[in-house]
Amino acid sequence: MTAAWPPFVPVARTVTQEDIDDYAARSGDFNPLHVDPAYAAAGPFGTVVAHGPIGLQTCFAALAGWLGAGELPARAEVDVAYRGPVRLGDTVTCRAVSIVAHAGRVVLTLTVENQRGEEVVQALASLPRAVVPTLRRSGHHARSAATMSASAGRDGVPATRSAVRLAAFGPPDAMRWTEEPIPAAGPDDVVVAVAAIGVNFADTMVRRGEYRRDQPLAFTPGFEVAGHVLAGPATGPPPGTPVAVFCEHGGGYADVVVAPADRVYPLPPGTEPTVAAGLFLQGTTALYAVHRYGRVRAGDTVLVPAASGGLGGLVVQLCVALGAHVVALASTPAKREVARAHGAHVVLPPDPDGLPAAVREATGGRGCDVVIDGVGGPLFPAALRALAMNGRYVVVGSASQAPASLDARVLMPRGQTVSGFVVARVMEEDPAEPQAALDEILALHAAGALRPSITVVPAAAVADVHRRIEARTLTGKAVLTL
Ligand SMILES: NC(=O)c1ccc[n+]([C@@H]2O[C@H](COP(=O)([O-])OP(=O)(O)OC[C@H]3O[C@@H](n4cnc5c(N)ncnc54)[C@H](OP(=O)(O)O)[C@@H]3O)[C@@H](O)[C@H]2O)c1
Repeated sequence: MTAAWPPFVPVARTVTQEDIDDYAARSGDFNPLHVDPAYAAAGPFGTVVAHGPIGLQTCFAALAGWLGAGELPARAEVDVAYRGPVRLGDTVTCRAVSIVAHAGRVVLTLTVENQRGEEVVQALASLPRAVVPTLRRSGHHARSAATMSASAGRDGVPATRSAVRLAAFGPPDAMRWTEEPIPAAGPDDVVVAVAAIGVNFADTMVRRGEYRRDQPLAFTPGFEVAGHVLAGPATGPPPGTPVAVFCEHGGGYADVVVAPADRVYPLPPGTEPTVAAGLFLQGTTALYAVHRYGRVRAGDTVLVPAASGGLGGLVVQLCVALGAHVVALASTPAKREVARAHGAHVVLPPDPDGLPAAVREATGGRGCDVVIDGVGGPLFPAALRALAMNGRYVVVGSASQAPASLDARVLMPRGQTVSGFVVARVMEEDPAEPQAALDEILALHAAGALRPSITVVPAAAVADVHRRIEARTLTGKAVLTL
């Protein structure tokens, strides 16, 4: 078999998954794992020997094993993330991480590990629900979402969940998915089966121990999820209701969350959980920043730092929809392209020294009417100098993680206002507000007026997402799926 394969094309750079896929396409060799020593020794792939179909084939084999018999689907959607490499002589094992039902499909998350327990492949297989009527094995990994969604009361809630456990503040790898008992639910709490988890910039601060310094360890990070109700009080949304959840005190990186009923918000029928988790907190924040605090009107010029980011991208789109002129800041050419795609009219690098002059040039010498700033630090005084007479400066974040200092006297001669808010406090003041904001954001999305940039990633890759946020290489919002 080895002899029949076409020659490898030597490559002078790191072999990528595309190289492997290309070779597999040309050779027709779609074996899930090539651990044949002769093959690996002859090839340019070094020890990287896993190929795409491993996801499909391994998932199906595992699924068949669980079902106890063999009716396998002819088609399924499989998303494979390579954590590799598999080394020569490795044996690999496949284990289930979660099974979640949504919209007539069952999403099965599997990991493949080598004998050292290192995860080498993670596969997310989406199968028609009909293929997975019941799973015979008991225990959390094998519990079927059909069982979960059928639970009409607390009795139907599984005993354990998969959750990220942060035992010590630290780098992204400090986060570990573990199996643990589901937190006890009080009489006013709702238990939700999670389908999608929104990852926020603040999650990285939480993980580093910079968000709340008194945060007790160990705990589960994560502020927002979307899924469906498993159980809750009679006055709350009934089991099966699709909901978004604001996990105010964390706890969202899990496949089941328990949250107070007043932090659980029903979603319009048909809302994709990834869209809800992708839009909820950043969309609500963008709405408050643009409408309530920035009071942006048609014809205003709005300066938006980090405009390719999750919050910034939505702010740009909301301002453009109102008929405002947007001057966007983004740190790389690729990010500036993203900001332009959101509708920004002028796109600049976030250079504090040149900013006031560049904004004046873009506004015929006036300056901007509104700044909606999620970055702060050295950008803050520069952007304030770029603010026009009677301008409004809205502080929404501090991604620079540096102080944004102000000598308030500078506000007087030009009648300017500086305000700031945290979405959690706005929600606390008016409990009806988040549902109204979420409904408005989702309606704008359904009408095509808001086009969020959402990257969907398997939940097991949460550490990678944190690394990308901290390296400033993520654009838009990342959502984890289970
Ligand atoms: N007030 C609230 O209730 C509320 C709600 C949601 C978010 N926020 C805040 O709003 C900000 C944006 O949140 P997000 O989740 O949408 O994040 P994001 O914008 O997707 O990511 C942060 C962006 O900030 C810029 N940045 C500048 N200095 C940075 C640094 N030292 N490290 C990392 N990034 C830096 C980067 O854009 P460039 O490379 O283009 O500069 C980066 O892409 C965060 O500060 C967040 O905490 C506040």
